[in-house]
Amino acid sequence: MNVVEACPNSQTTMVTPVQLFITFVLLVLSLADDNKLKHKPASKPVRLFTDEDLKRHDGSEDGHPIYMAIKGVVFDVTKGKEFYGKDGPYNALVGKDCTRAVAKMSLEPADLTSDTTGLTEEQLQSLESVFEGTYKTKYPIVGYTAIRILNQDGSPNEDFKPEDQPHFNIRDEF
Ligand code: HEM
Repeated sequence: MNVVEACPNSQTTMVTPVQLFITFVLLVLSLADDNKLKHKPASKPVRLFTDEDLKRHDGSEDGHPIYMAIKGVVFDVTKGKEFYGKDGPYNALVGKDCTRAVAKMSLEPADLTSDTTGLTEEQLQSLESVFEGTYKTKYPIVGYTAIRILNQDGSPNEDFKPEDQPHFNIRDEF
């Protein structure tokens, strides 16, 4: 008599269909995990927009993408063309970086700039909430302006992480 036959619980050494199923499920899950790791997004180059590049996307031409920058992040706001198109109420904000205007909720020509000098704490908070809550959640990012990528002295901005942005998306036209 061998050891297995001698053991009163010898049937536990056999692989039951349930055990087989569990092993299969675990295998599939571990492969899926592996796959996730293999498909981590690679960091891609981003498009740097000059003021002239942005200006070409000011909504004046029908059928042409409409871009607007806030805090140096360029959003494609074409799907909001009822706001930003030629005759839209917020057309003044597009084709440029209008951080100050968004912070102050102002359409005054003097506020259509990236300059944040002298903004109040409340205006900066409002800017942050529109930037996060409206633009980053609603519109794809198509690039950055120099103020986002470089510090004022021209050195690279170490905090710049394009891959952290939701809807990060490089348009194939570039
Ligand atoms: C009488 C004054 C205003 C009224 C009644 C008004 C009304 C609105 C409404 C109803 C929306 C939401 C639209 C929607 O999501 O369907 C909106 C969005 C917005 N408003 Fe105003 N607004 C006014 C003034 C301004 C001013 C002065 C600015 C200046 C920057 C501004 C900037 C914006 C922006 C950036 C959005 C987000 C648009 C988007 O989702 O892309 N608004 N406004």
